[in-house]
Amino acid sequence: MLKRETARKSPIEYEKMQEHLDMLEEIYKAEEQIASGEGIAHEDAKALLLRRYGSPDFLEVDEIEKPAPAGDEVLVRVHAVSINDWDWALILGTPFIPNRLMTGLLRPKIVVGSDIAGRVETVGSKVTRFKPGDEVFGDLSGCGFGGFAEFVCAPESALMFKPPKMSFEQAAAIPQAGMLALQGIAAGQTHKPGQTVLINGAGGGVGSIAIQLLKLHQVEVTGVDAAAKLEAMKLWGYDHVIDYAAQDFTRSGKRYDLILDVKTDRPLADYEHALNPHGVYATVGGQLPRLLQVACSRFRFWRTSEKTLSVVALKANRDLHYFNELFGSDKFKPVIDSVYAFSEADVRKAFHHFGTSAHKGKIVVST
Ligand SMILES: NC(=O)c1ccc[n+]([C@@H]2O[C@H](COP(=O)([O-])OP(=O)(O)OC[C@H]3O[C@@H](n4cnc5c(N)ncnc54)[C@H](OP(=O)(O)O)[C@@H]3O)[C@@H](O)[C@H]2O)c1
Repeated sequence: MLKRETARKSPIEYEKMQEHLDMLEEIYKAEEQIASGEGIAHEDAKALLLRRYGSPDFLEVDEIEKPAPAGDEVLVRVHAVSINDWDWALILGTPFIPNRLMTGLLRPKIVVGSDIAGRVETVGSKVTRFKPGDEVFGDLSGCGFGGFAEFVCAPESALMFKPPKMSFEQAAAIPQAGMLALQGIAAGQTHKPGQTVLINGAGGGVGSIAIQLLKLHQVEVTGVDAAAKLEAMKLWGYDHVIDYAAQDFTRSGKRYDLILDVKTDRPLADYEHALNPHGVYATVGGQLPRLLQVACSRFRFWRTSEKTLSVVALKANRDLHYFNELFGSDKFKPVIDSVYAFSEADVRKAFHHFGTSAHKGKIVVST
């Protein structure tokens, strides 16, 4: 409480002083209220919550407190979000380590979704590149996920301007798969016409982008995937397609300058066998035990061979401007398998569709 000094003041002075004191008291009260959160109306916003690990059936759309951006963050109103393998792994809660160490051992404490596109709602005090109304996209896997929501906060460094002609759905389909495709291809240095590339797991997000990047250099590309995807893959530009259930490409006798592997489902020696003398094997993903096996055999690989092994670690969002340029000059278009609505039933369906692996290209949810 403020102590009121009343001695030796005229009635007019006293009244003025009283007014000032009342005003100050109101300010102090408001400050205390803000500090305690009492009486402040928090806005709510929809988000996709994972109630238990194990299945998309444990996903629920519910209201949470609308996030507020920190100094270097941007609050984005999400318009589209795409599904990635990492979202799927977080929903299943596997592998137990490291996933559950990051997101809660028994009770998941995460809103999944890394690849978002949306409109800037507000910006933190230190943000310099963006302003409210800007259209942006980016991969939030390095900064806490949270994309399956009406609003998400992201550091400005995780975001790129979305070209006006690119739809939100197209933009959300690019970041993670695009960077993995680009960084996997870069590991192989395959830019000369006539070089040969094989993509293992070629019909999904990474493969549908990698083929477009490789075809800018007239490289000959073979895609390996399930029989049901091969026709679509030919339309995207693959010169040759192989059904992995019918043929083992490592035993066909054909050799490649680059094998870009999304699945890593064989011992390294098999891949080595299918490489040209100076060929590169670049893995971007697969099952953890296989990846560890491959990473461990790299020492033998390097000692005894001219061939190169590269384990690609995602550098998120690094070259999104390149995709903007290619899109602007009609040299690249994201392949979207399907678009779902942001309702509980539809999002569950979208993840089940991803889980069956029937998608060709990317699955997007429009929020
Ligand atoms: N390196 C990093 O830092 C990093 C970061 C993020 C993600 N990742 C990884 O990058 C990958 C993302 O790839 P993506 O988005 O393209 O995945 P995706 O959309 O799921 O595509 C994978 C494709 O591989 C096919 N496939 C399954 N088994 C196969 C086999 N034995 N041989 C050949 N193809 C097979 C799948 O089809 P069917 O299942 O129908 O057969 C599917 O079409 C994931 O492995 C993910 O874990 C890596």
